[in-house]
Amino acid sequence: MSKTAIFLCTIFIWSVSLSQTTSTVAIIPQPAQLEQKQGFFTLPSNITIQTTGTADLKQTINDLQKQISLSTGYKTFVSTNSSNAIIKFEINKTENNIIGNEGYTLSVTPKNITIKANKPAGIFYGVQTLMQLFPPEIESKSLVKGVDWKAPCVEITDYPRFGWRGLMFDVSRHFFTKQEVEAYIDQMAKYKFNLLHLHLTDDEGWRIEIKSLPKLTQVGAWNVYGVGQFGTFPVPSPSASRNYGGFYTQEDIKELVQYAKERFVNIMPEIDVPGHSLAAITAFPELSCSDGAGNIGVASGEPIKDWSTHTALYDDNLCPANENVYEFLDKVVTEVAQLFPFEYIHMGGDETFKTFWKSSAAVSELMKKENLKTYEEVQSYFEKRVEKIVESKGKKFMGWDEILEGGIGPNAAVMSWRGPQDGVTAAGTTENVDGGTIAARLGHDVVMTPTQYCYLDYMQSDRIMEPHVYASLRLNKVYSYNPMPASLTPDQQKYILGTQGNLWTEQVFNFRQAEYMTWPRAFAIAENAWSPASVKNWDNFVTRVEAQFKRFNVEQVKYAPSMYDPDFIPSYNADSAVVITLKNEVNGLQIHYSFDNSYPDKFYPVYTGPLTVPHYATQIKLITYRDGKPIGRMISMPIEELEGRLKGDNDD
Ligand code: ACM
Repeated sequence: MSKTAIFLCTIFIWSVSLSQTTSTVAIIPQPAQLEQKQGFFTLPSNITIQTTGTADLKQTINDLQKQISLSTGYKTFVSTNSSNAIIKFEINKTENNIIGNEGYTLSVTPKNITIKANKPAGIFYGVQTLMQLFPPEIESKSLVKGVDWKAPCVEITDYPRFGWRGLMFDVSRHFFTKQEVEAYIDQMAKYKFNLLHLHLTDDEGWRIEIKSLPKLTQVGAWNVYGVGQFGTFPVPSPSASRNYGGFYTQEDIKELVQYAKERFVNIMPEIDVPGHSLAAITAFPELSCSDGAGNIGVASGEPIKDWSTHTALYDDNLCPANENVYEFLDKVVTEVAQLFPFEYIHMGGDETFKTFWKSSAAVSELMKKENLKTYEEVQSYFEKRVEKIVESKGKKFMGWDEILEGGIGPNAAVMSWRGPQDGVTAAGTTENVDGGTIAARLGHDVVMTPTQYCYLDYMQSDRIMEPHVYASLRLNKVYSYNPMPASLTPDQQKYILGTQGNLWTEQVFNFRQAEYMTWPRAFAIAENAWSPASVKNWDNFVTRVEAQFKRFNVEQVKYAPSMYDPDFIPSYNADSAVVITLKNEVNGLQIHYSFDNSYPDKFYPVYTGPLTVPHYATQIKLITYRDGKPIGRMISMPIEELEGRLKGDNDD
């Protein structure tokens, strides 16, 4: 036997013997170091949890007790005495430097469970990992009978790769209630996200009460109800009811901040200016540079911009040449800074189409006075003034990529969302790279969230299966992302704070869809942000995603099963017939198909290679199977749709 064969044989025997005494460990994000041991810990019906005495962990322990008792029906007790405790926490032990402020060690033995950490956050993350070791039914909010409540024995040492592990939730395009945001935080925290970026203002709604400017929410939080393809609705009639939307009172915000804090999540507010400001301009038209701005009202899903030419159809920009704008922003930022303890305030800066600035006498005057040569420099002038306002409230300023154009402010942090931009080069070079790389080279802090890997509003599957958005992003592409830009030196790498996913909600009309768009792609983002690159593995990740699906089924959290939908790649053969190539992102699946309009099952032909569409066929129907069981959704793809794609009629 060759050495390789002996090795494989040994692995096989080891895994067979281990599998008799263990079950699969399937944790997301994958821990930095995990050693599975023989045997199990089984929950007794009276469970004593040792308190840490740390106020920061009160909620963690309450939630743990609640979760265990609701699903198992077992009794839980807290005690300061470690001798009778079977779940033990040890905090402020500094012997393990590698785990830092958010890391932990978790030891599960047949007798007990011990989580150790330097700081409360580490204990919290250890508890999240522990819960994933128990059967999915532990997530149930009601009693489940007949479950063997056991966790495999493990030794884990775990800590994050990045300190910034975020999700952005756009609560402006569609409003989501405080309870829904809390439910979003609950899920985030389970996967060790620590940052919720709330996109609080945009053309479609101003969502935060500013007591000194009540019109912002009296007027700016309400638009006209519509469902369908957002962005294509007609301009509402002037008499249409403007009663759709909502906002968070300052009390709501305080409660959200506290709720998040108890789950070790910070909330970063975003006030998106100077563009994307139609809601504010509708309340205060005098803050724009043009007559009649705001007359259209808070945007309600009608087209307000031409995205192909970067032209504004209606003015949604604050006027950089109007001193009242800076006074307005000072009032807004003063109150926002008091509500959110997080160190950064995000002030937007993206997609400021300069259409109406270009025809503004006030902006021309400003350009002369300040010697500004381009409209990017005008925006830069605005951003630098806003940066000063933010800093005057004791906060740090962050903005989207565009704040680099025309010159970045002295201390600004960049949230990098675009890839390389034409004509934008890295400092001191002619290299065309993304804004995050440029900013890090200039010594500015950066959060990486490029559209092509991190945009959770993009479609996850073929466009015929999803509400239409202009681009797609499949799970494996998200998972392939390495947030550390390749060309940075070790010195520059320290400016990359981390990464986040962005859920824009133009096409997200309800919270179930927000969940669907977020999961499972946010599992991939969680792992990109937390796990060492060396432990990432796609096939293994898929297995772990499926384990989380089981938990979500119990919790009744919606997720997308899109990873089981194949990609359709159409082409023509030499006879001009359409040929369909199918590509699965998950390995080991079988696709059964029909061209005769009937619903395929496992007795139908299995896809083995490119299919020539038979004469007269109008659709291919297919479904993916694993080991003889259906796993994917039924997909009916019209041949006309594929022909349209070949002719270039359809975008993504
Ligand atoms: C953005 O996607 N406009 C930041």
